[in-house]
Amino acid sequence: MTSLSDRPPVITTPRPSASQAASPTARRRTAQAIVKLQRVNKTYANGAIALKDVNLSINRGDFLFITGPSGAGKSTLLKLLYGAERPTSGNVMVHDHNLAQLRGDRLSLLRRRIGVVFQDYKLIPRRTVSENIAFVLWAQGCSRKEIHRRLLPTLRLVGLQDKGDCFPDELSGGEQQRVSIARAIIGTPPVLLADEPTGNLDFDNSWQVIKILKKLNDMGVTIIITTHDEHLVRMSNHPVVQIRNGHLITVV
Ligand SMILES: Nc1ncnc2c1ncn2[C@@H]1O[C@H](COP(=O)(O)OP(=O)(O)O)[C@@H](O)[C@H]1O
Ligand SMILES: [Mg+2]
Repeated sequence: MTSLSDRPPVITTPRPSASQAASPTARRRTAQAIVKLQRVNKTYANGAIALKDVNLSINRGDFLFITGPSGAGKSTLLKLLYGAERPTSGNVMVHDHNLAQLRGDRLSLLRRRIGVVFQDYKLIPRRTVSENIAFVLWAQGCSRKEIHRRLLPTLRLVGLQDKGDCFPDELSGGEQQRVSIARAIIGTPPVLLADEPTGNLDFDNSWQVIKILKKLNDMGVTIIITTHDEHLVRMSNHPVVQIRNGHLITVV
């Protein structure tokens, strides 16, 4: 096992296209860190220590699993990345902005460039699938035409093109999670964070979710996913970091 506490690890798997590989400049761009945690500590107000001296660098286009037992600090790490929590100390850089310092409108604008998926879907029960997905764009002031233009391709991407008019309680758990992925990506964020997205799903539905995330990754989206499902991680064949008691401990 490698301790990551003392140095920023390179855990990325840059996959340059042939044309990018030809140019050193393009190669540097490919390996650009889109997420960077530097000496990050997080202690909650009640004294719970969630993260200890975490250093992590994730490149544009990576697909990274974060594993570890319950209470290890996985959700806290993602919360720092989408600005739901602030670090007690250290820097949390996303898209070249330090989330430890961003407030108000500037934080809201940055959040538009980060999609988030949760274990419990968080869909609005009395809204249809299409309304749930479109809500984000509508709230951002997009025109009806623009929303309409984006909706069907996004539904297709998650295999729900026939379910747009259904309500969440008419869908299976796997389908509901795919709605929440569609909602997270309709704004075309370059980064997608998924906190235990398969935690409530059986293996087949979990694998379907992973396949959609892989497809998004092939389209260039950087994916960071937490899970404690070791089987899923092994099958997926992507880089993994582990968190134990707030420490990032291994790179695979
Ligand atoms: N809002 C909070 N207030 C206080 N302690 C918290 C809060 N959220 C998480 N914790 C604590 O921080 C630690 C890490 O939690 P979490 O990041 O949720 O872990 P995981 O997602 O790996 O299960 C745990 O000890 C947990 O009890
Ligand atoms: Mg969690």
